[in-house]
Amino acid sequence: MSELPSNRSFEQSPSDATGSSGEVALPQETAERLLERARELGPLGSLQSDRVTLGRRDLAALETLAERLANNYPYGDPHYIGQMLKPPHPVAWAAYAMTMLLNPNNHALDGGPATAAMEREAVSEIAHMCGFEQSLGHLTSSGTIANLEALWVARELNPDAVILYGANAHYTHERMCQVIGARHEHLPQDEGGRIELDALAQRLSAGGVGTVVCTLGTTALGALDPVEQIADLCARFSVRLHVDAAYGGFFALLADGGTPSVVSAPFSALPRADSLVVDPHKHGLQPYGCGCVLFSDPHVGRLYAHDSPYTYFTSDELHLGEISLECSRAGAAAGALWATLQALPLTRAGLGARLASARSAALALASALARSDQVALVVEPELDVVCPFPRLTRASEITARCNLAFDSLAEAGWHVAKLRCDSSWLRRRHPWIEADEERVTTLRCVLMKPEHLELAEEIAATLLQHLV
Ligand SMILES: Cc1ncc(COP(=O)(O)O)c(C=O)c1O
Repeated sequence: MSELPSNRSFEQSPSDATGSSGEVALPQETAERLLERARELGPLGSLQSDRVTLGRRDLAALETLAERLANNYPYGDPHYIGQMLKPPHPVAWAAYAMTMLLNPNNHALDGGPATAAMEREAVSEIAHMCGFEQSLGHLTSSGTIANLEALWVARELNPDAVILYGANAHYTHERMCQVIGARHEHLPQDEGGRIELDALAQRLSAGGVGTVVCTLGTTALGALDPVEQIADLCARFSVRLHVDAAYGGFFALLADGGTPSVVSAPFSALPRADSLVVDPHKHGLQPYGCGCVLFSDPHVGRLYAHDSPYTYFTSDELHLGEISLECSRAGAAAGALWATLQALPLTRAGLGARLASARSAALALASALARSDQVALVVEPELDVVCPFPRLTRASEITARCNLAFDSLAEAGWHVAKLRCDSSWLRRRHPWIEADEERVTTLRCVLMKPEHLELAEEIAATLLQHLV
């Protein structure tokens, strides 16, 4: 892991006192910059006067926060290729902070008329990107809540029917089906980490299914379910289709046949979905607190109907709160997304350039690793997630080596994630593996940052050095 800051004010708190891990620390320079920001930001925190004067205790609280925040991985640093994490775009950050000075609430128009309009505009740009014209949609506080709304609508429309998702789907689908009390089942995944189509067809022909959930950009591998074929099956059996594109949705900007590309058929089929989730707080460069759900049939808005004697009195228009399950929501999230899309429109040349560098970085890393016969990839990357492991015989050896590499990479300042999967599943693509243990651990790298493209060769060399 990166060098521990030596400055006294950044000393790590003991993990037993803070519940935090004492082994993780920002590089000293970053931690110091954070402290500087704390001192600069405080005085800007009001519109009622030119500057706010912070008292001694206020400043001390911010400084202690900066110290405590030093117990973090350096998410903005290109050496961090672990989870789907990166800092928001500076425009999003400034727009969020600026809007927050007013702190509008997008629940009702009187809570934030300007940001409500911005939410509608930003959501309609996302809808347009996905080919969802005439749709109904809104921002949510997360991908989980966005998916919850889509599953809830599915259940409201078809209360007794099964919601079907793949073993490759995010775990939130199972949990949210439990929350809403919907019948639910899962299907196996194929060797590419996509929903098994034969199993889906078989299950649909048995009847009783109301909705199929597919994933465009799985969390584990960035795999793309074949939405176009799943949509055909859903049409044949008159079943709803929900696409969870929380991670992969913005890659639609690259599905135009240009270079770099992503497989275009699943993205072209998005307009065939009944509901769709895209998370601006993943590849949309937004701070956390920004998911988005879209419905192709605006009439599902009627399911949200509720009485509220204390809101919705300033206009006859449908308010955002009348078409969402959440009440208070940060208008600042809408302001930040709207401003970001002004600066980086949803085109290949706009926000697409960010997706393109992530995609190119993954391709470059995969091809650099392919030059070695000592490592293999769980699957070929379909987006920007690359999961390498050493070509050892036994699952237990692969796991042991990956665990060691994870630690030694961290000591060298590189942060990756791990992926645990069934050994028998991994063997389907890599039949030389002996499944001496049920589960096997590989490394998982998410190349979301613009710098990753230039670093791809170095990342490959570093991974090889630690894995082999
Ligand atoms: C495909 C997919 N769906 C849903 C989620 C959950 O989203 P959130 O973490 O915003 O609640 C994730 C998170 O990684 C995801 O990758």
